[in-house]
Amino acid sequence: MATMLEERIGGIGPADLVRDHEVHRSVYSDPAVFRLEMRRIFGRAWIYLAHDSEVPNAGDYVVRHIGTQAVIVTRDKDGAVKVIFNRCTHRGATLCAFERGQAPGGHMCPYHGWLFAADGTLKSISHKQNYEEVLDPADWAVTRVPRVEAYRGFIFGCLDREAAPLLDFLGHMSTTIDDLVDRSPTGEVLCSPYVLKHYYRGNWKMTFENLNDTIHPGFAHAASVVSAKHVAEEVGGPEHLKPTLGMMMANGKPISFFQQLDMVTAPGGHSYIGGHMGADYTPDTQNAYHAALVARHGPEKAAKVLGLDRHLMLLYPSSTWHARYQTVRIVRPVKPDLTEVIGYTFSFPGAPEETRINAIEYCTGANSAASPVISDDLELYERMIHGNAWGDQEWIPMSRGVREDRETTNEWTRQPSTSEGYIRNQFRAWAAYMGRS
Ligand code: FES
Ligand SMILES: [Fe+2]
Repeated sequence: MATMLEERIGGIGPADLVRDHEVHRSVYSDPAVFRLEMRRIFGRAWIYLAHDSEVPNAGDYVVRHIGTQAVIVTRDKDGAVKVIFNRCTHRGATLCAFERGQAPGGHMCPYHGWLFAADGTLKSISHKQNYEEVLDPADWAVTRVPRVEAYRGFIFGCLDREAAPLLDFLGHMSTTIDDLVDRSPTGEVLCSPYVLKHYYRGNWKMTFENLNDTIHPGFAHAASVVSAKHVAEEVGGPEHLKPTLGMMMANGKPISFFQQLDMVTAPGGHSYIGGHMGADYTPDTQNAYHAALVARHGPEKAAKVLGLDRHLMLLYPSSTWHARYQTVRIVRPVKPDLTEVIGYTFSFPGAPEETRINAIEYCTGANSAASPVISDDLELYERMIHGNAWGDQEWIPMSRGVREDRETTNEWTRQPSTSEGYIRNQFRAWAAYMGRS
């Protein structure tokens, strides 16, 4: 694989595609780079797969992806979560055609009927007598994802047996997951089976580079900002706006506002920026929700939980998290220039209904095909793919805000949200993953 890559880009290795403040354009389109990313990044990082509540009972399963490889996440009869590849070991047919379902007896391949248990064990073979003494079923189990760990109900898988534990991978970012779970008045978190998703004709990294880019909304989303302002006037002010319109309005905030706002980057390519949508619940909901959280956590922690407002934690390389809006997106690479983004919303038993509705509205506005905002971004991803396919310019700058770091600790670096520091941080992780053979 490395040989192909080296041939295509003139004898340099993958880590040479990244400089301190520049990245080579081939990382967004070269099929050889993409194949190597699937092995070295998606084959090494912890990948968010599913929430416990999606597979509550023995036999429940969902199909997810690690890079371009489909996996089945199942709960076995002992209550343990097992993750196996969605591929029959006979002729390679896909085992599960559905995104979710119930298979208490295991997964039967639709081609010749081989039957596999939740942990991948080959339980039975059709026409077994024809294999007498030539095929031992014990040798033909479906491959299991070797590392599966959960953090507070969120299940991750990793193909690298030597990878550090999940908690090390999450580092400081675990606090966003804590905030999401702590927002539940009972501690119980439920993932909705109804997902909001879209595909775009662009590279998977473009989503990670776009979501917390606070310079682009004033330009790329200018039309929806104007529309939102009109609607705000009609309904009597922005405080009456639902999350979708609140998000559209927030995109119109001046650069000086975003310059004040913090961005936090952390090892592993992860980052988040401060919340800035400012959409509150209605007073009744606020009071009821606050009271429910005080009952669970006490007043001090309840205030802390509700007060933490982070706009999108980017958990590199595969998911983005918004605790305030109870949403997780999975970014799934399909081809160098094709990506799927799948949005999951969460609800909290015991919380006011408005919190669940807000999550759905936010996810609709931020991630569905009905979004009045992301269509701008998706068109620009496509334009970048076209623009970088020709011409002499080999390197793309990512130097905005390079001298503006505000504070650094062992766990994170704080900088203005207008910086491209989070992109540089992603490519530091990219080069580290890709450079190890
Ligand atoms: S391909 Fe699955 S049983 Fe033949
Ligand atoms: Fe955008």
